[in-house]
Amino acid sequence: MAIFASFILLALVHLVAAFPTYDSIAVYEYVARNGVAAIPNSHLPLPKGQDGLKLVNHPAHPFITASPNDIRGPCPTLNTIASSSFLAHYLPRNGVVRPDQIVIAVMEGLKLGNDFAKFSCYQALLMNGNSLTNLMSIGMKSPLTGPDTPKPTLVGGLTQHGTFQGDTSMTRVDAFFGDQAVLNKDLFQGSASTAQLHNGRSLVPEIFNKHPFVPGVNHGKNNFVWQPQTPPLSSFCRIYEDTVMRVIPGQYPKLTSVLRDALNRNLGFFYGAVRAEHNCTQVFPYGRD
Ligand code: HEM
Repeated sequence: MAIFASFILLALVHLVAAFPTYDSIAVYEYVARNGVAAIPNSHLPLPKGQDGLKLVNHPAHPFITASPNDIRGPCPTLNTIASSSFLAHYLPRNGVVRPDQIVIAVMEGLKLGNDFAKFSCYQALLMNGNSLTNLMSIGMKSPLTGPDTPKPTLVGGLTQHGTFQGDTSMTRVDAFFGDQAVLNKDLFQGSASTAQLHNGRSLVPEIFNKHPFVPGVNHGKNNFVWQPQTPPLSSFCRIYEDTVMRVIPGQYPKLTSVLRDALNRNLGFFYGAVRAEHNCTQVFPYGRD
């Protein structure tokens, strides 16, 4: 029996070796069956009257703790709105979502401006989601986003370290030390006590003035490696350009026409986020349509 099992395993390994592009075949078969997911036009700012404060946790739409099959991840805000019945209409409770659903959910539920909502959501989809099925996990990698687009794309969900998730959390450990998506009670207590000490006053200027930092990455303890090519958080145009011209082509070096269309559409939404407020120049890694 053991020999038979080993034989099957060996045969499977050979199959995988013989078809190294299985991932890409699966996703194109999927697209042939289902078509490319529709990419709805991304949301405009909310109309006046609908943009006021709303209680997320309210008896009419209570917070319901995620079930074991619901995906949650490193962003406490997205986790919260995915668990709120009120917003379940916009953000599916299982945590596998379309970018336009997050845009409207964070605008409606959290009053995030339209530009910034689009900026974070389309950047996240392009780096961590599946542009053909138009789905992204707000936590770990999930088969629910459909077959992966060809490697070296990651389609790793928001938990994917080194893309959007970058060890900036005050309540999760750095990826080097463990699971960067899971709430760490000690870190949470530490952050809560520090906030209490400061009586609700914003700590952001204090922290940044005391600990000025340049973009970089932790390679273990006390080994911070500077990444000069990464733009600072303050420059939206440079982040836009760097993502579009360096990060995305790194994940999608070769394209089929179907994938190019889907990427160009999402890159267009991403540009829409920096056009009005920041007056950035549009860049085209895969040519203009
Ligand atoms: C009003 C909207 C939002 C607020 C207030 C918010 C707030 C936060 C906060 C406070 C953290 C840090 C948590 C901690 O220190 O433990 C965080 C982390 C994160 N958020 Fe959000 N978020 C918002 C929207 C979004 C959106 C739209 C996305 C992407 C689609 C996103 C993706 C992430 C990711 C990936 C992290 C992890 C960062 C890291 O660990 O390096 N967030 N968010």
